[in-house]
Amino acid sequence: MPIQESTVEKTYDRMARLLDGIVPDFELKVKAELVFEIQRLKRERRAIILGHNYMEPALYHTVPDVVGDSLELARRAAETDAEVIVFCGVRFMAETAKILNPSRTVLLPSAKAGCSLAESITAEDVRALRRRFPGVPVVTYINTYADVKAECDVCCTSSNAAWVVESLGSEQVIMIPDEYLAGNVARETGKRIIFPSRTPDQVQDADLQVELIGWQGRCEVHEAFTVDDVRRVREQFPDVVVLAHPECSPQVVRAADYSGSTSQMINFVRDSRAGRYLLLTECAMGDNIAAENPGKEMVRLCSIRCPHMNEITLEETRDALLKGQYPIEVDEAVRVRAKRSLDRMLEIGRPPRAAMRPAS
Ligand code: 13P
Ligand code: SF4
Repeated sequence: MPIQESTVEKTYDRMARLLDGIVPDFELKVKAELVFEIQRLKRERRAIILGHNYMEPALYHTVPDVVGDSLELARRAAETDAEVIVFCGVRFMAETAKILNPSRTVLLPSAKAGCSLAESITAEDVRALRRRFPGVPVVTYINTYADVKAECDVCCTSSNAAWVVESLGSEQVIMIPDEYLAGNVARETGKRIIFPSRTPDQVQDADLQVELIGWQGRCEVHEAFTVDDVRRVREQFPDVVVLAHPECSPQVVRAADYSGSTSQMINFVRDSRAGRYLLLTECAMGDNIAAENPGKEMVRLCSIRCPHMNEITLEETRDALLKGQYPIEVDEAVRVRAKRSLDRMLEIGRPPRAAMRPAS
């Protein structure tokens, strides 16, 4: 729940209770003023703030009306009747909100908040894949832009990728653009995978037999985690439970104890009893979980941060509300086609919790 106190002092008191030991006190004092102003502007503009789980702790725990993973935030964006949606996340997420709810003003607080996966593929790349593998359904990870979604049959997120692929009941599926997510889905579903860009000779023979056709995009954060990182942390902390986002390589996911979307990882820590967890994902999420689970210790590897998510600050969020920046626009013909891929995913949903499989 967002913090909505009647004075800056009360806002600071609430933040200090929530973020004690996570954010230094002098920083909380500055941020309390920003939080207070954002809440006032939010009421004035009839806005809702959606916050991704990667937002820094002083933002994540204070101003969003809803926090969550990509799927949860897409659902909430589709349903809201607020006039303005401020999306504290990255461009593809804000664009998804606009595609699903076009009559709302959607603001992304930083024009620089992109995503290495979304940049890794174009609409023409998808058309070329379709020409090469005619009739094969195309699943796109939600981390793509609207024109790419418009060329695909259905979207998926990290919380439902294998579920969406299996729901198609097709012998072959093209899965773009994250090679590691596709590799993890191939492992989970027992499908064989190829990457046409890397193995042209193999494709000549394998076109008709292969079950999952991937692309070579990678998340610049998750690709950096290694099996050696996991081994070394386990050596130092034998009681550690390792959680890996499915954008990590299949080798890293295999070395982990659990793999799931950002919200699935948050739920896993909340619902389990280990004293110590290693999170192989954006570092800020470790702070957010630590604040909510005071008895549990988070081990983070923070040398690689998501530069895109880190563009979104309390200052930028205030400026978004003050100046109406930066509005998301999507060409209407593209939007209608992209919405079909998103709607189909929202109908399929995510697996019931019992059907989620541990990583190993
Ligand atoms: P989630 O859908 O798991 O929140 O992932 C979004 C993302 O960009 C992870 O890097
Ligand atoms: Fe994109 Fe990776 Fe950043 Fe997520 S963490 S927004 S996938 S670059």
